[in-house]
Amino acid sequence: MAGRLTDVGPDRLFAAARRVMVRCDELARATATPGAGIERVYLSPEHARVNRLVAEWMREIGMTTHQDAAGNQVGRMLPVLGDPEAPALLLGSHLDTVPAAGRFDGIAGVLMALEVVRLLRASSGPGRPGRVPLPFALEVIAFSDEEGTRFGKALLGSAASAGGWREDWWALRDADGVTLREAFLDFGLDPGRIGEAAYRPEQLVGYLEAHIEQGPELDERGESLAVVSSIAGARRFQITVEGEARHAGGTPYEARRDALLGASEAALAVERICRAEHHIIGTVGQLETFPGAVNVVPGEARLSLDLRGELDGSRDRVWDAIARELDAIMGRRGLRWRARPFHDAPAVFCAPLLQDVVRAGIMATLPAGADAPATLFSRAGHDGMAMADVTDVGMLFMRNPGGISHHPDEFVSVSDVAAGIWALTEAVLHLAGDSRS
Ligand code: GLV
Ligand code: MN
Ligand code: MN
Repeated sequence: MAGRLTDVGPDRLFAAARRVMVRCDELARATATPGAGIERVYLSPEHARVNRLVAEWMREIGMTTHQDAAGNQVGRMLPVLGDPEAPALLLGSHLDTVPAAGRFDGIAGVLMALEVVRLLRASSGPGRPGRVPLPFALEVIAFSDEEGTRFGKALLGSAASAGGWREDWWALRDADGVTLREAFLDFGLDPGRIGEAAYRPEQLVGYLEAHIEQGPELDERGESLAVVSSIAGARRFQITVEGEARHAGGTPYEARRDALLGASEAALAVERICRAEHHIIGTVGQLETFPGAVNVVPGEARLSLDLRGELDGSRDRVWDAIARELDAIMGRRGLRWRARPFHDAPAVFCAPLLQDVVRAGIMATLPAGADAPATLFSRAGHDGMAMADVTDVGMLFMRNPGGISHHPDEFVSVSDVAAGIWALTEAVLHLAGDSRS
């Protein structure tokens, strides 16, 4: 089936990739921090703005659109001969960002999905506008909250799509004390209708996502694209260290119970323990001290821990080892500590069939006789982690020069985006061939 898109030609592919790049720039302007980088969080005015733009781009290629009950933006296109209820292959990624973000994480995957629809629709021939020549419908979904920047809980958008919304999430608060329920109402969404965002398994063929790698492996290999085998499971904790706030000048070292020093040793222990393990990575990304005065020994410190691993079992054993080490550190320093878990997403394996079609799609972009593309596990989290509860998931990675992501210098080249659009389109065609037989 390789080469089915040869009639599309490199010019169309490059035009598609250039449109993705221009639109990534356009969406980057929807930020809460103009002049100071990109920050676009769940249920914000910027979220509403990018949904409106993406909905326009969906309609421009003939899709019908709606914003779902969780604020995800969805476009749908029917198969040529299919009925309106035909199950859909979902293509997409997310439009929200971390603070001081890059412009491609998530966003490129949404915009590339639109180009796949555009290419497939164009290949359906005259007389079939607004349809795709496939045995299933295509939907493009722009998830609204993958990063969890605003409410601390990641994957809210995709959890709603997968039917995994939890009632206790309504009480989550952002940094200004606004609850998730209040933010829904402010955005014009009805919390009582959240269940309507959920897909039923029989409505879906699968979920396919293209994403930049967010690490250096493809760049180091000198390759453009990879098949993703699985997505690392993540656990996140808020750790509180309690000591005693006292005078910075008057308190001798022997009398100090300095919470910041305990927290600092804890951060170093996380690095030491995780480095010694295969495919486990731990990060302390937030650290605050209280009362936070220059002349007071810190009486309390709060630090975050993000712990990921290819396998849940080894990741959980590493958490147990970290907890034992924290007992030892805090015991030595006369401190107390506790951990509040706030995110727990198991590792997810990409479905073998979707790995095969992504591999076949990438092979179609390579010269005849080329080696099979790399198969990588994703150390970063993705919406597929939530979507795996309701359907099969598959992912394609694009080279990320220098492996820099969650940073304004994040990059992907136009030629790798063109290759990614081509591979993803071929993957959809392979899947269509498979589901016909
Ligand atoms: C999302 O990008 C994550 O991996 O945290
Ligand atoms: Mn991200
Ligand atoms: Mn992402």
